[in-house]
Amino acid sequence: MLEKTLLIIKPDGVKRKLIGEIIKRVENKNLNIIEMKMERVTLAKAEAHYEVHKEKPFYKGLIEFITSGPVVLMVVEGENAIEIIRHLAGETSPTKALPGTIRGDFSLDILENVVHTSDSKENADKEIKNFFK
Ligand code: TYD
Repeated sequence: MLEKTLLIIKPDGVKRKLIGEIIKRVENKNLNIIEMKMERVTLAKAEAHYEVHKEKPFYKGLIEFITSGPVVLMVVEGENAIEIIRHLAGETSPTKALPGTIRGDFSLDILENVVHTSDSKENADKEIKNFFK
């Protein structure tokens, strides 16, 4: 199924100069980057994006982190793009993220974990609307 998903290179990924590395992995997989921009996420957009985590103990730190510096936002399109990009990103937990995945290769931290990826069609549509109107 042809799908669109939102991939965000988080502030740690931008600071660590991983933009090229991550784009390369997406393109190597033959997915299409159909929109892309770099910007600092506003508080309002960050809160809308992470609304589902509002009651979680890590929420405040998560909002501070995602608004702490510029991010790269892209809409990626392709067959089964949502699940495939989730696999390229790897698990949330740094002990579970496998080598070969973005998080497995580049992150030791559950918060500063380099990328965000949409986890369902419904959330992908909502997240893309939030950032790309
Ligand atoms: P989540 O949606 O569970 O993970 P994913 O990014 O893999 O879809 O969580 C959103 C972000 O919240 C996650 O990327 C990092 C942060 N987070 C924490 O800081 N601590 C935690 O225990 C969890 C589960 C997430």
